[in-house]
Amino acid sequence: MCGIVGYVGPQDARDVILEGLRRLEYRGYDSAGIAVVADGLLSSVKKAGKLANLEKVLAEHPLPAATVGIGHTRWATHGGPTDRNAHPHVSADGSVAVIHNGIIENFAALRAECEAQGVEFRSETDTEVAAHLLAAAYADTPEGPGRLAEAMRVISRRLEGAFTLVATAATEPDTLVAARRSSPLVVGVGDGEYFLGSDVAAFIAHTREARELGQDQVVEIDRHRGLTVTDFFGAAVEPKAYTVDWDAAAAEKGGYDWFMLKEIAEQPQAIADTLLGRLGSQGELVLDEVRLSDQELRDIDKIFVVACGTAFHAGMIAKYAIEHWTRIPVEVELASEFRYRDPVLDRSTLVVVISQSGETMDTLMALRHAKDQKARVLAICNANGSTIPRESDAVLYTHAGPEVAVASTKGFLTQLVACYLVGLFLAQVRGVKYEDEVSAVVDDLRRLPEAVAEVLAAMEPVRELARSLADADTILFLGRHVGYPVALEGALKLKELAYIHAEGFAAGELKHGPIAVVDQGTPVIVIVPSPRSRESVHGKVVSNIQEVRARGARTIVIAEEGDEDVVPYADHLIRVPRTPTLLAPVVTTVPLQVLACEIAATRGLDVDQPRNLAKSVTVE
Ligand code: F6R
Repeated sequence: MCGIVGYVGPQDARDVILEGLRRLEYRGYDSAGIAVVADGLLSSVKKAGKLANLEKVLAEHPLPAATVGIGHTRWATHGGPTDRNAHPHVSADGSVAVIHNGIIENFAALRAECEAQGVEFRSETDTEVAAHLLAAAYADTPEGPGRLAEAMRVISRRLEGAFTLVATAATEPDTLVAARRSSPLVVGVGDGEYFLGSDVAAFIAHTREARELGQDQVVEIDRHRGLTVTDFFGAAVEPKAYTVDWDAAAAEKGGYDWFMLKEIAEQPQAIADTLLGRLGSQGELVLDEVRLSDQELRDIDKIFVVACGTAFHAGMIAKYAIEHWTRIPVEVELASEFRYRDPVLDRSTLVVVISQSGETMDTLMALRHAKDQKARVLAICNANGSTIPRESDAVLYTHAGPEVAVASTKGFLTQLVACYLVGLFLAQVRGVKYEDEVSAVVDDLRRLPEAVAEVLAAMEPVRELARSLADADTILFLGRHVGYPVALEGALKLKELAYIHAEGFAAGELKHGPIAVVDQGTPVIVIVPSPRSRESVHGKVVSNIQEVRARGARTIVIAEEGDEDVVPYADHLIRVPRTPTLLAPVVTTVPLQVLACEIAATRGLDVDQPRNLAKSVTVE
């Protein structure tokens, strides 16, 4: 939520900042702005709407060339998406400019304090208060090296909530300062130049050398004196260095119309990368990064899986697999609800938090609550070095590469695969499965990349179908067992991308009410379990297809190759390869991703940046 870029160095800061903003636009696209320091003056331009609007203004009214600058792309929280509310916010005296990600929870009291001192506010944002407070603290700090950083520490101690703040001062053309509490910020270190970014995508085209910032830290970057990190009270801190394992090409569209299409196509490779190095030659699992001892894993008597949105759907599927393989009870919780209902947690509880971005605030807060209650926390995450894995006891990275499209696709499939690995690993360590049983599932996992590639190769009919569904008012999704979360995921993708009303149901629940909405021509997409699945779930879902069809539904059926029972009742049939029941969501989700993407494109919508959304949701 909100993209932040900062630069100090010999290049033209205007170009570096705009390029960084382009790469971060997925984090928010309600407005964008940039500020540079040149000739003892701060100059800034900001514009509502997508980055293209800002670029147009800059083309007509260029900012002066500069060696230090900051840029922001916004997802509005306080104050609508207008020019005035866009960042940067410059203090009333013009001495400092500030960009912000997060929410300053005590901004109302601080604003009243500033207003009492005669400051006139120009926006409705919580951020502007930080600009005025910083200017006042800066004025009170003696001149000399470290002045802006000291002023930032002073105000950071007063701010409540979550924030990343980056500031520049008119009189300091070689300095950038930033503060971080709970919201993301990473530093890029180049050759004689430094970058700040909400994530590494902001500077990956320039350097892969990064520094992690911890909670409640202030970083000062001076072109000549280098990098200094302290806590909010000025005590020096040594930031952790790491090398980013993505390259710039991975963050480009690579010839596809949309990042989402590229990311869907990357799924076979992404799954292979999630599995890489984790499947041993004897059919066993090797998860070195799960830094919990075998004894700690044996002591676990309850698992919570906690996540949001698409990652929550991955968690729902994980429950079926982990309970089945380990016989440990698993509860799945929405992160935004978890800590507010006082869950029962202790040392023998494992909390698995799932997050593609590693920055989702609801999930982060749930994680912190779990740790406060002494539970062990294992993160399944894609973004290396992000906050959630850093604060967890153990982490399993999905290694899916950058996911830029707002709607998660390869993030989801790789989360599923990581969940399978965790479940199977627990079963292996606890000895609840024979070695040959583990190695049979490992073989099934190895076949997943190929199975997904097969689905992708047969997507042309799905694209055609999408064109015929583009005018639908409502589309229903039905599934049972692991097909139920897949139905929820299909409906979520369609809602967020195509703005069509969509709902996912457990197929068995249909008769308890929802079937009333089925009308003549209502498209109903059914995810059919394998005929080899347990206790005739397959037969029951086939009956459900007949029930909705009898009421006029247009049935779109996703079924495995060789399942002939569905043929008479399917108006459209989408075939997927035979896959073991618990792993089937990895293949059955793919046509639903393609469908949602193509329907949105047919409706002329922005597939990568749907309205009202942001990639990384860093507010609660
Ligand atoms: C939907 C989608 C969101 C995210 C959710 C959690 O396509 O992408 O529902 O899954 O916001 O995000 P992460 O996984 O980054 O915690």
